[in-house]
Amino acid sequence: MALATLHWKTDETLAVGKGATVQQFVASLGGDKLEIDVAPWGEGHLRINGREIAHVEGLKDRRQAFRAIKEIAERYVETHMLKSEKKNASIALPAVKAKLLEGKKGLIVGIANESSIAWGCAKAFRAFGAEVAVTYLNDKAKKFVEPLARALEAPIFMPLDVNTPGQMEAVFERISKEWGKLDFAVHSIAFSPKDALQGRVVDVPRDGFATTMDVSCWTFIRMAHLAEPLMRKGGTLFTMSYYGSQMVVKNYNIMGVAKAALECAVRYIAAELGPKGIRVHAISPGPLATRAASGIPEFDALLDRAKAKAPARSLVSIDDVGVATAFLAHDAARLITGETLYVDGGYHIID
Ligand SMILES: NC(=O)c1ccc[n+]([C@@H]2O[C@H](COP(=O)([O-])OP(=O)(O)OC[C@H]3O[C@@H](n4cnc5c(N)ncnc54)[C@H](O)[C@@H]3O)[C@@H](O)[C@H]2O)c1
Repeated sequence: MALATLHWKTDETLAVGKGATVQQFVASLGGDKLEIDVAPWGEGHLRINGREIAHVEGLKDRRQAFRAIKEIAERYVETHMLKSEKKNASIALPAVKAKLLEGKKGLIVGIANESSIAWGCAKAFRAFGAEVAVTYLNDKAKKFVEPLARALEAPIFMPLDVNTPGQMEAVFERISKEWGKLDFAVHSIAFSPKDALQGRVVDVPRDGFATTMDVSCWTFIRMAHLAEPLMRKGGTLFTMSYYGSQMVVKNYNIMGVAKAALECAVRYIAAELGPKGIRVHAISPGPLATRAASGIPEFDALLDRAKAKAPARSLVSIDDVGVATAFLAHDAARLITGETLYVDGGYHIID
């Protein structure tokens, strides 16, 4: 953050005490408001967005207090991300010099907000030069997804609730009409009703099982079916899985069963579409604090365990998942297919 962007202006002079005055200065940075108060007896305060950040006292006079607190403010904005920056940073695309996926066009399904794994994927694909089509669940979700789609310069932005008949077909029709081809598709959605997800697998009701499998697994199969005719020159299909498909992970329950089916579908579809140059992968990220994850009880404990046990001693980010996924869409990965790629700091290899 450049210090020069802080321009302090006198705001108003407030009378305080017997003839004493407290002077107020304000500066703004993006959408953030910084305020300094200085008193003639050498006391000063710094507030950012109304919250007190620093306080000095015992200085000679107002001028000295102002200098001291101004320095603190400048150092603070140099080393901290302010609210407006955080907002922009989270929707900013990483700067990547090599446009390794230039000319490729793909569909990203599953962006709910800027914590979504699908958003991490979309950012990476776009940063590598690909064009992306983006979907949103419904009108309620649209306002969160729209600014992200704009940042991605997505030429196709459409609703897709997989429970609404015809919506997935409409997305593929539009892609066919507008692009005439598809190079990659990312399926990053899952759903299980609470009573199915939060109970034992042995107790799961039939409708809960059916919904979980339908949204979390069958829709990927359907996406592959609709993508196939558009991938005449080959392509790559991705879905998101989790380690709970292979091992019993506390609280993952029926979703583990659905992910096992999903990974198996990946292998069958990879075998079926491989001769056409279409590759198929499951990506298996370590735990990430997303909205979907908030439905899993004791998720914080899962995060702590992942960090402590993973050889990398680190949690993964959506950007880590995004670049690994984008790599597999590159022609350099043309002979890798049917894989479940763990992006988990190596957690899955440890007992
Ligand atoms: N967060 C994790 O720890 C983690 C780890 C491994 C795998 N995953 C998987 O990653 C994928 C993405 O989840 P996330 O963690 O980014 O959470 P998220 O909540 O950001 O994304 C889940 C998405 O599923 C979409 N969705 C749910 N029902 C839908 C429907 N009927 N029609 C269309 N879309 C629907 C939601 O709109 C949302 O965009 C999921 O498959 C999840 O199981 C998550």
